[in-house]
Amino acid sequence: MGVDADALVIPVIQRGDGPTFDSISEETLRSQIAGLAADAEFTGSLGSTLLVPTLGEAPARRIVFLGTGKEADLNAEAVRRAWGAGVNAARNAGAKRVFSMLPPATGQLSPEAGIIAAVEAAGMAAYRFTAHQGTLKNAKTKPSIDSLTFASASGEAATVERAIAKGQAVANAVNLARDLSNEPGSVLTPVRVAEIAAGVATEQGLEITVYDNEGLVELGANAILTVGQGSSNPPRMIHMVYQPEGAIESTPSIGLVGKCITFDTGGYSIKTTDGMVDMKGDMAGGAAVIGAMSALRSQEAPVVVHAVICAAENMISGDAFRPGDVITGMNGVTMEIVSTDAEGRLVLADGLVYMARQGVREMVDLATLTGAKVVALGNETVGLFSNNDELAGKLLKAAEFAAEPMWRMPLSEHLEPQIEAEIADIKNTGGRAGGSITAALFLQHFCEGLPWAHLDIAGSNRASKASAYTPKGATGVGVRTLLDYIRGSTS
Ligand code: BES
Ligand code: MN
Ligand code: ZN
Repeated sequence: MGVDADALVIPVIQRGDGPTFDSISEETLRSQIAGLAADAEFTGSLGSTLLVPTLGEAPARRIVFLGTGKEADLNAEAVRRAWGAGVNAARNAGAKRVFSMLPPATGQLSPEAGIIAAVEAAGMAAYRFTAHQGTLKNAKTKPSIDSLTFASASGEAATVERAIAKGQAVANAVNLARDLSNEPGSVLTPVRVAEIAAGVATEQGLEITVYDNEGLVELGANAILTVGQGSSNPPRMIHMVYQPEGAIESTPSIGLVGKCITFDTGGYSIKTTDGMVDMKGDMAGGAAVIGAMSALRSQEAPVVVHAVICAAENMISGDAFRPGDVITGMNGVTMEIVSTDAEGRLVLADGLVYMARQGVREMVDLATLTGAKVVALGNETVGLFSNNDELAGKLLKAAEFAAEPMWRMPLSEHLEPQIEAEIADIKNTGGRAGGSITAALFLQHFCEGLPWAHLDIAGSNRASKASAYTPKGATGVGVRTLLDYIRGSTS
């Protein structure tokens, strides 16, 4: 095994209260390292690390021993946290090229699942958004990792390679979603989103249709057009389709719909300065959908997946929409605008009706939809709303596996009167009480009777501080939950 790196990451299992250095066969070396570990009080507990310089005695300049905790507790999330910590320790020590050993098979995890978890977390932890660092920032920012390579002490080579590739594809998908979300609104316009989606489609062999102004008029996607009409960056609706190898007529299909407001000023119902700061991230639902689509091939997803990304910029101008305006949805439901800042549910209305017409079995939308969700559940936890218990159950299970916290909220029928409109069918805000619920009730009018779930990811799309494998900034939330949900969606 050739090691061409400046940090070598080696997992250390905790047994009893101490670390085990079984992988080091040479006895003197093993006892020296055990001594260093004792001095540093390194116990091998989950996420702990011990940095040992090798002073020319090993192919890499330093070894990062990485605590995995007790073998019996080693599930997918423990592996992710451990390998995230390992990569962070290597970076903080100045390593650019990191070579990491993969986790051993444990009682809780198949060898393949362990490898995927380690590789995906390492790739996510190595992520930094550097596109706009200038001459000042480059000189003083922390070192970044240029390359990550992996090897396994056990397992058949082809199986190991396949698992590594799967893990890398997951990390790339999450990091793509993060890149999109971190990009300023001036760069990431709806047209640019469509170009990036087209790039993904070409690379991954997906079908893609992009609806421009004219196409949207033809479709009757009035809500997307209305929200986007105040901006000089025109709206787009993007439809991508993934077909698994050997798909036939009866292969089940599912739909993903993403809110992709590339910047949300609030429109004439303008936001405050503080309320507007993070609104370049109001496209995180669309970003998660594009990210997930980019990895379906690698994950050998067994179902047809349709994606619809509703991209528009919510700006103010002489052409912008106004409170009091009325929009007719694609299914004939009319919407009275109370607040131009409740724009997400409007663009999703078109996206959901369009998706329902694709003949999908069930559909899931993702949206940074309401501040009320942040009040109810906090930033991290995703709010789940669904008209179908089975679909809700699948998403909760997937979210748990991905360790993306999610909590089901009710579609309280008795709040429906709050969105009854004066001169139209429904209005786009229902007041402060139950704000994330009335937003979901609004969306339900466009799900056309299909099993549908809505994931309110407001606040979850950004981390204000770094954690094990998620740096500060855009999180790419939803990508891994979606991938796990889709992987398991055969029945
Ligand atoms: N994009 C916002 C929701 C949001 C708020 C996302 C905070 C992330 C963090 C959405 O378009 C919005 O403005 N919602 C309004 C709805 C209200 C006018 C009914 C809100 O939550 O205040
Ligand atoms: Mn808004
Ligand atoms: Zn918004």
